Amino acid sequence: MLSIGKLSLSIPCILAPISGVSDLPFRMLNRSFGAPCAFTEMIDVKAIRSLDKRTQHMLSTNADDRPLGVQLLAGDSKDIRDALKTLENYEYDLLDLNAACPTPKVVRKGKGAWLLRDPHTLKEILEVMVHYAKTPVTVKIRSGWDSDSVNAREIALHAEDAGISALFIHGRTKVQGYSGTVDYETIKTVKDAVKIPVIASGDNVNVHHVKKMFDRTGCDGVAIARGSFGNPWIFSNLIQFFQNGSIGDMPPVNVRVEVMKYHLNLLNQHYGERRALSIFHKFFIWYTKGIGKTRALRDKAFRIETIEDITALIEEFHDLDNRQELRSVIERN
Ligand SMILES: Cc1cc2nc3c(=O)[nH]c(=O)nc-3n(C[C@H](O)[C@H](O)[C@H](O)COP(=O)(O)O)c2cc1C
Repeated sequence: MLSIGKLSLSIPCILAPISGVSDLPFRMLNRSFGAPCAFTEMIDVKAIRSLDKRTQHMLSTNADDRPLGVQLLAGDSKDIRDALKTLENYEYDLLDLNAACPTPKVVRKGKGAWLLRDPHTLKEILEVMVHYAKTPVTVKIRSGWDSDSVNAREIALHAEDAGISALFIHGRTKVQGYSGTVDYETIKTVKDAVKIPVIASGDNVNVHHVKKMFDRTGCDGVAIARGSFGNPWIFSNLIQFFQNGSIGDMPPVNVRVEVMKYHLNLLNQHYGERRALSIFHKFFIWYTKGIGKTRALRDKAFRIETIEDITALIEEFHDLDNRQELRSVIERN
């Protein structure tokens, strides 16, 4: 069991903040497979103040989308109070500060992973968040800026001093981005240094990797990011794993087909047809990964302009659970 403040999660696994992915439909899909907690993607505090349509979509939620964490991007403590005022109109359970994003346009503005180079500003922002937030505050950090400046332990201690309730750590440096090996040792060092719960991120792509993360670091919980792409059943597999130690399988193609249609439907309800289709294209690729020889179907998916046509394409996968039958579909396309 993982507890953050008064929040207790049935399994110690959280759907991570994922820019361009963890919107309301995606969170609801993963919750339907048992994700006990989920995060919005990172949202700049300045965007919260102006609240344009894109930001409203990022913040949209519903009564079943709980518990929910909202992740903020900020480079100083100035706009936090205003952002929190706006957020009073939204229901959420955790407030996280992103000190991990490696994207140049974020780092250039002194936000995201830049804060790893400026522990005092990081602490100051967190103190303001802790003071004004109505929920527990958390932070997401990386192991360090680069391999010569691995300072996660120092950053974690500053953050804990600011009064946060839990810490997320992606076990890679800013310079590594999203590739290269995960530094389990540094996550363990952080876990041993602080008293608050530590939730570890990095290559938690299946039950085996999640087990490895717990074994190697002693972390209190894990965040699931790329492991959920086209693979929401990672959460039902994790539930089984925590119940009886079983590893679980990928569902057969016909189950994947139903999940794809369900996800598409959630996107359509939330965004309308045009936007739903453009978002669904990347998911189509993730869902069909590993099915084998699906290139032609994927190419076709990108040219499709209606929900009806993409649903028909998805249905082509129905009852096809061996390569032989799949091949004949591809030839027809
Ligand atoms: C496309 C993409 C978008 C991401 N967006 C965010 C984000 O908005 N906030 C954040 O804290 N981390 C973000 N991350 C990082 C993930 O939450 C996670 O820490 C990282 O991918 C490592 O976990 P994994 O190897 O299991 O994917 C993103 C990762 C990816 C691949």
